[in-house]
Amino acid sequence: MRIFSAVAMFSLLLFLAGCRQDMHDQPKYKPLGESRFFADGRDARPIPPGTIARDELNDNDSFHTGAANGEFLDAIPLKVDLNLLHRGQERFNIFCSPCHGRTGDGNGMVAQRGVKIPADFHTDRLRSVPPGYIYQVIKNGYGAMGDYGDQIPVNDRWAIVAYVKALQLSRDATLNDVPTARRAQLSGGNQPPLLGAPR
Ligand code: HEC
Repeated sequence: MRIFSAVAMFSLLLFLAGCRQDMHDQPKYKPLGESRFFADGRDARPIPPGTIARDELNDNDSFHTGAANGEFLDAIPLKVDLNLLHRGQERFNIFCSPCHGRTGDGNGMVAQRGVKIPADFHTDRLRSVPPGYIYQVIKNGYGAMGDYGDQIPVNDRWAIVAYVKALQLSRDATLNDVPTARRAQLSGGNQPPLLGAPR
């Protein structure tokens, strides 16, 4: 009886093993194969109109590189308004402040924990660099700093540049840099800050 049940178990095992189906052995389309589902009989689908192949994207213009004719752009190629600055502030605080600190003096939490201390944005050298230079540092990285081209889309890079320039101005501006209409606010007591909290 015992021998009989052992034989039964063994043949059951063999039977179940025979049922095994490998994952690679399943109905699926293979590249440039045949299909009975699509009317044209091909499994490859035509490319949707307007598709741009990754390598054919036209990203060599100054908006994407931050430079024209070998010179860094000395203006931000977007309308610089409060919306752009708020966006830049938010993106800066997310992507840059861990190292550069919220005020850009290079004192971020990561820097305090041992990574190379980043350059202070409030030095004469970095105050005088054109916006295109900062843009290009974000896109390509600089020395020990990695590049953020893959993480930060083009418009946001320029928004961050605008905010870095605003940070620099925040410590290096004279009354003449303030629009006449807003100068009165600077002398009068409890006025809201020019650039409020991020929305
Ligand atoms: C992981 C830390 C880290 C992050 C995040 C980071 N940086 Fe940096 N950054 C550095 C370091 C370190 C240096 C100095 C590199 C060197 O001198 O080798 C630097 C240098 C710079 C410089 C100065 C380049 C020069 O000519 O001296 C600029 C401008 C700058 N970063 C902008 C940014 C902006 C804008 C962001 C956010 C998009 C950012 N960084 C994010 C670490 C960082």
